[in-house]
This record gives sequence, C-alpha cells and structure tokens, in this order.
Amino acid sequence: MTSIPTIDVHVAPTDRMSALTSDVRAGLTATPKSLPPVWFYDERGSRLFDEITRLPEYYVTRAEHSILAANADEIAIRAGADVLVEIGSGTSEKTRLLLDAMTRSSALQRFVPFDISEETLRDAAVAIANTYDVAVHAVVGDFQRHVGDLPRDGRRLVAFLGSTIGNLTPAQRHRFFVDLDAAMAHNEWLLLGTDLVKDPRRLLAAYDDAQGVTAEFNRNVLYVLNRELDATFDPEAFDHVAAWNDDEQWIEMRLRSRFAQRATIGALDLEVVFEAGEDLLTEISAKFTPERIRNELGDSGFVVEETWTDSGSDFLLTLARPYC
Ligand code: AVJ
Repeated sequence: MTSIPTIDVHVAPTDRMSALTSDVRAGLTATPKSLPPVWFYDERGSRLFDEITRLPEYYVTRAEHSILAANADEIAIRAGADVLVEIGSGTSEKTRLLLDAMTRSSALQRFVPFDISEETLRDAAVAIANTYDVAVHAVVGDFQRHVGDLPRDGRRLVAFLGSTIGNLTPAQRHRFFVDLDAAMAHNEWLLLGTDLVKDPRRLLAAYDDAQGVTAEFNRNVLYVLNRELDATFDPEAFDHVAAWNDDEQWIEMRLRSRFAQRATIGALDLEVVFEAGEDLLTEISAKFTPERIRNELGDSGFVVEETWTDSGSDFLLTLARPYC
C-alpha cells in the first residue's frame, strides 16, 4: 500500500543559512581552523557518503549490517515498539532490516526518519512509504539541536546507527544523550551503533580509500561553501588527510592547503588566509570500547540492556533505555 509521507522541516532554509554562516565564521577565523562535519551532506555529499559505505576499505557499514541481519528480530521483540525513529537516517537502507523485523514481531505503525539532508530524506521517505504498510513521518533537522522536537506519539525505538555519534566530541555526546534522554519515555528504547577501536592501519585505510572517494567527500564541504556562501575555494588546492589521534581515540579528517593561498567568502565578507601545509579540520570520527559506551550512556541517564557485535568485533550495537 502506498501512502504519502508527511515531512516536518525543523531546519528552514533561513535557519540553515544562519547556522552555516555562524559555523563557518567561527571555524575559519579560529586557530586551528575547523568546520563541523554536518555541512558535508548536501545532495552530492550524501551521495558520496553512500558510495563510501560500499568501498572495500570501509568495513563500518557492512559490520553494522551483519549485526542487524543476525539480531534484528531479537531487537524488535525486546523493544516491543510501534514507532521506529531513525536519527541520521540517510538513505534508510539498514533501516529496512529493522522495519522488516518490527513488522514481523509487533504492530509497527510508523517510521520517523530524521536527517539534515532534505533531498535524501524525501527520497528515502517515499521509497519506504512505497514498500511498507506504515505511516512515514519524516523530519528534517540537526540531531544536535532538534532531538527534542521529534514526534512523541506511540512507543518508540530510536535508532542512531552508523557510528554517527562518533562525529561529536565527548562533551557534545554527553549533551546529545542528555537531550535525547529528556525526550524519551521510560518504556522506549535507544539502539546505538558505534564503531570500535581497532588497528589504526585499518582505520586509516577506511578513511583514506584507494579510489579517493573519501577525499572527494572531504573536499565537498568546500563546494558547499562556494555555492551557499559565495566563496572562492579551489577544492583541488587541498589534500585529503586522515590521521589517528591516539590520545582522543578518534580519526581526524583534514584538508591540507597545498600552498599559501587565500579565499574569500562573499556572504560573510571574509577573507581566509592559508599557509602552505596548513590544515582545516573537517571531521572527527571517534572509536569506542564497549565499556566507554556503557559509561557514557550511564552518565547521561541511560542503562544498557543488551549489546551485540559482529564476527570480527569491529562494531557494536547497544540497546539502552532511560533509567526509571
Ligand atoms: C557517517 C559519520 C558515520 O565517521 O565514519 C565516512 C562519515 N567520514 N568517511 C564516519 C565518514 C569519512 C561517517 N559517519
């Protein structure tokens, strides 16, 4: 049965522009320079990330997929939810495993995909509405700002997959979990996907693939700035760099200026100067241990019910609920 998805837009175009403007001004006038990873995901960036998920080096998506394939029925039975919320849903591909299992186990009523990329979200919402007998209520928003605005009706399983949580610093993660906890009832569940610490050589390969797709994904943020903020960056004048930060236990992606150069950002009336070899930090991707996940969730109001991993122990799925 086909039904028409509802789409709530919490990030109106003007809202998005003011967030982009203040992020870019703050990040590019700071030392060292940085930009938040959320701005990668315009239509091209979302497509490039989708390509990354199929790269031989990027084990992350396959590992998580295999955990879901093996355990989705158990997850669905334990959760007993009639609404599936997916934060950072992207193309909603892994979601199908959960939707199938929830359809088998319980009376799944509604799917609420939540993502920053409106185009990707619309396509995914329509695709799901066309193949599942569920109401689709898509929400366009930024998970760092709008988790409190998620629709609350029904009994929800909130899935936050793909290790997207790893893009946040520990302080930002704490804030996110506390906000989410405040928005959840005691009989609702969080299903969290996190990438695990492993040999840095494998991590580096996953973030610096041989085909250069990750490099293009990284440079995409400069195309976004050129288009949205009338900027003059030459993306090809920056090298893609991936590095393992052992102190912080995260992968860093940077764009390294190949030579001394400057760019103007028309919409901000700003000139940005780069020295030769200067880095712009574009993403952190934290890697976890099961203990760390348990502690961080515990520190922000959640109790872990169950965890699952893949055969190579590369990735962890955690089912948690708010404390009573
Ligand atoms: C979508 C945030 C989970 O950090 O692994 C992939 C993004 N960056 N390759 C990640 C990403 C470079 C990805 N997340």
